Amino acid sequence: MSATHLVILAVALLVDIASAGVPLPRYEALLKQQSPPSDPTLGLYDDGDKVIRLSVDNFNATVLDQNRGALVEFYNTYCGHCRRFAPTYKSVAEHLLPWSEVLIVAAIDCAAEENNGICRNYEVMGYPTLRYLGPGFQPGPQHYGQSLHTQDKNEIREILAGMVAAENLTSSHNNSYWPNFHYLTENDSASSLFEGLSSATEYVAVVHEPENTTLGVEVALFMTQWPAVRVRRVIDPAVAAKFKIDPTNLPLSLVDRKGEITAYAPESTNGESYAKKLWDVLGKKNITPRPVKVHQPSATPASKIKGQNELIDEVHRNKHFVYQADLEQAIRTVLHNEVSKVGEISGEKLLALQRFLAVLQRYNPLGANGHQLVSKLKDYVVQFNDQRLTGSQFEEELKRLEAHLSPVYSSNHFVGCVGSSPRLRGFSCSLWTLFHFMTVQAANNEETQDPLEVLQAMHGYIKNFFGCTECSEHFQAMASRRKIWSVPNKEEAVLWLWAAHNEVNQRLAGDATEDPEFPKKQFPAPESCNECYRTPVSKSENLEIEWNKDAVLGFLKNIHNPQFVSRYGVQREELLHPTADKMRQKRQISSVFTDMDMRMGMLLYAFCIVMMVLAFKLFAFKGYRKKPYGHDLLGKV
Ligand SMILES: Cc1cc2nc3c(=O)[nH]c(=O)nc-3n(C[C@H](O)[C@H](O)[C@H](O)COP(=O)(O)OP(=O)(O)OC[C@H]3O[C@@H](n4cnc5c(N)ncnc54)[C@H](O)[C@@H]3O)c2cc1C
Ligand SMILES: *[C@@H]1O[C@H](CO)[C@@H](O)[C@H](O)[C@H]1NC(C)=O
Ligand SMILES: *[C@@H]1O[C@H](CO)[C@@H](O)[C@H](O)[C@H]1NC(C)=O
Ligand SMILES: *[C@@H]1O[C@H](CO)[C@@H](O)[C@H](O)[C@H]1NC(C)=O
Ligand SMILES: *[C@@H]1O[C@H](CO)[C@@H](O)[C@H](O)[C@H]1NC(C)=O
Ligand SMILES: *[C@@H]1O[C@H](CO)[C@@H](O)[C@H](O)[C@H]1NC(C)=O
Repeated sequence: MSATHLVILAVALLVDIASAGVPLPRYEALLKQQSPPSDPTLGLYDDGDKVIRLSVDNFNATVLDQNRGALVEFYNTYCGHCRRFAPTYKSVAEHLLPWSEVLIVAAIDCAAEENNGICRNYEVMGYPTLRYLGPGFQPGPQHYGQSLHTQDKNEIREILAGMVAAENLTSSHNNSYWPNFHYLTENDSASSLFEGLSSATEYVAVVHEPENTTLGVEVALFMTQWPAVRVRRVIDPAVAAKFKIDPTNLPLSLVDRKGEITAYAPESTNGESYAKKLWDVLGKKNITPRPVKVHQPSATPASKIKGQNELIDEVHRNKHFVYQADLEQAIRTVLHNEVSKVGEISGEKLLALQRFLAVLQRYNPLGANGHQLVSKLKDYVVQFNDQRLTGSQFEEELKRLEAHLSPVYSSNHFVGCVGSSPRLRGFSCSLWTLFHFMTVQAANNEETQDPLEVLQAMHGYIKNFFGCTECSEHFQAMASRRKIWSVPNKEEAVLWLWAAHNEVNQRLAGDATEDPEFPKKQFPAPESCNECYRTPVSKSENLEIEWNKDAVLGFLKNIHNPQFVSRYGVQREELLHPTADKMRQKRQISSVFTDMDMRMGMLLYAFCIVMMVLAFKLFAFKGYRKKPYGHDLLGKV
C-alpha cells in the first residue's frame, strides 16, 4: 500500500467523521420542503374566518390612522389559552362583521418572529391581549391602544360599543358610516331628525337606551350597512314618548320623512335583536343593506407539514426519545422570539436572563458554534447591570453573533415535538424537553452542587419570558405549592421537574388543546419503563400511581444522556459531536482492513487511531473542551 493510499484513506476517514450519520435521502428531501416553525402562515386564523390577519407587512396600513377603529388580538400560536380563546374570537369577528365600516376585528401572531418588532413596541405583556385602536390611531409612548380585560364575547361587544361611542371624530376622519351617537333632546322632533342627512336616508330609527347600557350604540353599529336608515339613541323617557316609545313594551321606533312613526317590540333586550327587528321591517319594505366587505389580506392557510407523517411515525416508535432537533428549536425560539420580544429587559427580567444563559452555557446541547454563541450572548447580557437592555438590542446582538458564527443550528424544525397539525405541540413541548435535559446534565456535573441551579433559571425564565401567560401563572403557583426552593439536591431537582410536569400532564389530559395523536399521559409510560411503576399497571389505572423514583431517575438520566439524544431528522450533523455510535462504526471500518493484510492492517489500525485522536483533539480544541463527556469519548477509542 502506497503513501497516496494512506493519505486517501486518512482523508476519507476525516470526511466521514465530519459528515457523520447522514439521514435517509428521502427524509432529507421531505425536510427541505418543510417550513420552519415561525412560518407566518401558521397563525390561529384561516381564510374562512372573519378575523383579519395582521403581520408586519400590513399592520400599519390596516390599523394606523384609519377612519375606523380596530380590535386587535396579540396572541402566540403555541399558547394553549390563545388556542382555547380562538373559537370565541372567531365568533366575535363573525358577530361584529356588520360593524366593519366602523370597527374591524383583527389579530397578530406574536410567535411569528417577523412580528417581534410590533409585539415589542406595543408592550404586550400577556397573551392573548386585546386592544382597541381607535380611528386616527398613532402609537406613541404610553399609547398603545386601550386594553380590554375580558374574554367574554358579550362583554367584548359592550366594551367596544362604549369605546366607539366615546370617540370624538374630527372632520379629518370623516367616515360617512359613523353613526351620530348624541342622545335626542327635547328640541328634537320627527321632522328635525332628518336635518343634515343625505337624501338616501329614508328612515330614522329611534332606540330607547336603558341607563348605563350600550344598547343604542350597538343597534346603530349593527345598522351601519343600511344606507336608508340612521339610528338615534334616546335616554330620557319624556323625549322617547315623542317618538311613540314606551321603554318597557315598545322601546324601538321607525320615523319616516313624512313624520310617520311606528313603534316595535324586539324579541329581547340586546343590540342584535333590535337590529334584527329593523332588518325584518325594512326587508318587508324592500330595503336592503350594502354587502359587507372583508378586507382579508391574502395568505396561504396553514397546511399540514410535508413529511410530517414520517416524523409522527418515528416519534410513535420511540415515545420517550429526546431529540436534538427539539432542544435546538427550544433554544432558537427562546432567543429569537421570546427574549427578543420583550421591550425592556431590566431588574428581575435581566437577572432571569443572565441566569438562564449561564445555565444554558453550562449544559448547552448545541455544537461548537452554538457554544460560542451562548457564551458570547451571556457575556453581552452580563455587562448590562445598571444600564437598560432592550429586546431589540438583544435581537440585534443575537443576529450579529449568529451571522458571525454561522452555522449554529443543525436543524430547523421539531421532531419529537412535531404535532399532528402545525398549531399543536411545538415550542412549549421543546421547552419542557430543554429544561429536563438541563436538570439531568446538572445532576451529572461534578463541578456544581447547587440543587437549584437549573430550577431557579427555569422559574425565572418561565415567569419573565414564557409567552404562554396562563402557563406561566400556573407554573409559578405550582412551584410554590411544590416547594421548589426546598429541593435538597440535584437528583431531587430532576425528579421535582418530572413530577411537576406530570401534574401539568394530568391537568391537561383531555383538554381542547391536546393533540389527539399525542394524548397527555403520565410519563414515562409503562411500555417505556415498566420498572418505574411499583404497582402493577393494570391495577394502578384508577389509583394514584406508586412510582419507583430510583428507576424513574435512572430512566430520565438515560434518555437525556447526550450520547442517546436522537439525531433523527437533523440536517447538519457535522455541527455536533460525534457520538459513541459513530465511534463504533469507525472501529468496524478499521476491522475490515485487518482482514486484507494482517501486517499492513495493524499499521493502518494504529494510523487510524492516531488520526482519530488527532481529529478529536482538533474538535476538542475548537471548543468542546468544556463538555464533560468529551473525555469519555476519547477514553473509549
Ligand atoms: C412550564 C410550562 C407550563 C405549562 N403550563 C400549561 C398550562 O397551564 N396550560 C396549558 O394549556 N399548557 C401548559 N403548558 C404547555 C403544555 O404543558 C404542553 O407543553 C403542551 O400542551 C404540548 O404538549 P405535548 O403533548 O407536546 O407534551 P409536553 O407536555 O409538552 O411534553 C414534552 C415532552 O416531554 C416528555 N415528558 C412528558 N412528561 C414528562 C415528565 N413528567 N418528565 C419528563 N419528560 C416528560 C415527553 O416526551 C413529551 O413529549 C406548559 C408548558 C410549560 C413549559
Ligand atoms: C409602523 O409605524 C410605526 C409608528 O409610526 C413606525 O415606527 C414603524 O416603522 C412602521 N412600520 C412599518 C413597517 O412601516
Ligand atoms: C371633540 O373634538 C373637538 C375638536 O377637536 C373639540 O373641540 C372638543 O372639545 C372635543 N370634545 C370632546 C368631548 O372631547
Ligand atoms: C371627507 O369625505 C368626502 C366625501 O366622501 C371626501 O371628498 C373628502 O376628501 C373627505 N375629507 C377628508 C379630510 O378625508
Ligand atoms: C333647546 O333649545 C333651547 C332654545 O333654543 C335651548 O335653550 C336649549 O338649551 C336646548 N336644549 C338642549 C338640550 O339642547
Ligand atoms: C348608572 O351608573 C351610575 C354611575 O356608576 C350609577 O350612579 C347609577 O345608579 C347607574 N344607574 C343604573 C340604572 O344602574
